[in-house]
Amino acid sequence: MAKKAHPIGILGGTFHPIHNGHVMMAHIALEEMKLKQVWFLPDGMPPHKSIGGVTPQQRLEMVRLAVEDVDGFVVAAQEVQREGYTYTVDTMRELTAKYPDESFVQIIGADTLLQLESWREFDEIAKLCAFFVVPRKGTKKAGAKECAKKLKKKYDAKIYFAEQSSIDISSTALREMMEAGEGWREFIPEKTAAYIEENQLYRASEQTQFDSISDRVRKSLPLSRWHHTLGVVQTAVQLAQRFGVDVERARLAALIQDCAKTYHGKEAEALMANYKVELDAFSQNAPKLWHGPLGAAIAKHEYGVEDEEILNAVRIHTVGAANMTPLEKVIKLADLIEPGRTYDAVEEIREIAKTDLDGALLAAMKNTMGYLKNGSQNMHPDSIAAIKALEDKQ
Ligand SMILES: [Fe+2]
Repeated sequence: MAKKAHPIGILGGTFHPIHNGHVMMAHIALEEMKLKQVWFLPDGMPPHKSIGGVTPQQRLEMVRLAVEDVDGFVVAAQEVQREGYTYTVDTMRELTAKYPDESFVQIIGADTLLQLESWREFDEIAKLCAFFVVPRKGTKKAGAKECAKKLKKKYDAKIYFAEQSSIDISSTALREMMEAGEGWREFIPEKTAAYIEENQLYRASEQTQFDSISDRVRKSLPLSRWHHTLGVVQTAVQLAQRFGVDVERARLAALIQDCAKTYHGKEAEALMANYKVELDAFSQNAPKLWHGPLGAAIAKHEYGVEDEEILNAVRIHTVGAANMTPLEKVIKLADLIEPGRTYDAVEEIREIAKTDLDGALLAAMKNTMGYLKNGSQNMHPDSIAAIKALEDKQ
C-alpha cells in the first residue's frame, strides 16, 4: 500500500522539562520535511514515582501546555502512562501496525544520531521509520555525516539533515538553572513556565539523593548502558517488593551497580589505586569484573552513598558470594534478567523468579557458568561458592 506523502514526525524524550529547543526542533522538522504533524511522545518512567519531585502526569501536562496552541503539534500520551521504559523499536512497531497508511520520521538531535546504532534492534527500526537530524546551534557534532553515511550503507537507513539548527539548551542545564532559581524562564514555553512556577516544580529541596545520582549516572553512561540500568532498576524494585526486601535500597543499588562501566584499562586502574580498591587474585586478571568493586568505591566517594549493604551489593554484583543477603541476591538477579536481556534461558529464569529468589538466582548463575565454559573461560571462585551455597539450600 502506498504511504501518504506527508509523514508524521515523532519527537520522543523525557521532556523533563520540555523547552524551546524541543519546540524549535519540531517546527524545523514540520517545515523542512513538510510533515503532516509532529507527535510529542514523552518517555515512560523508570519505575520510581517521580523524578525531581515531578510526576509523569506533570511532565505530560508541561508538554501539553507547550504544544497545544500550535497547529500540527500533537501530544501522544501512550508511553508516559506505562510503567517502565519502552524501547523505540516497540513503539515504532506499534505505530506502524496501528497506522499502516502513515509513514513516520523520528526527529532527533545530532548527539542521538551517534548513538542510534546502539538502540535495541536498530536494523528493525531503520525499516520502520526515517530519521531527521536537527543539530544544536553552535555545536558541531564531529562525525555526524560519516555516521549517517555508515548507517545508510549498513542498514539502508533513511537519514535527513535539517538545514536550520535548534538552540543550544538541555533539560539538564535547565534543571540546574531552576534549582538555582534563575535564568531559565526564557528557555521554556510561556504556559509551561507558568505551570512550573504555580506548581513549584524543580525546586532544589525536591531533589532526592536518588534523583541527583540518577542524573549523574545517566550522564556518565552510553545510552544502551543507561537503558540496561533502567531495566535493572525496574526489575530490582519488582523483586524487592516480591521478596520483602527494602525497595528504596534495592532501587539505589540497582541504579549504581554499573556506574563504573564507563572506565577501562589505565583509567580504571588509576581510579582503583586512588580509591584504594583491592582486587582479589582472580579479578586482577579479569577487567570485566572491575566495575563491581570500582562502582562501589565511586558510589561511596563520588555519590556519597554510605549504606554498606548497598555498597556491597554493587561490589559483588558481578561475581556473587557464598552468603549473599536478600538485597545482594535481588541486585545480582535483576542484572541478569532485566527486560533487555535476551539469552535463551532468560524467560524460564524470569518465571522461576516469580516465586523463588534463590532458585532463580541459581538458574541464572548456572547459565552464566555454562556460557563461560563454552568460551573456555574460568568462573570466579566466589561465583562457584555462591552456586554451591544456593544448591545446598535447594
Ligand atoms: Fe554490571
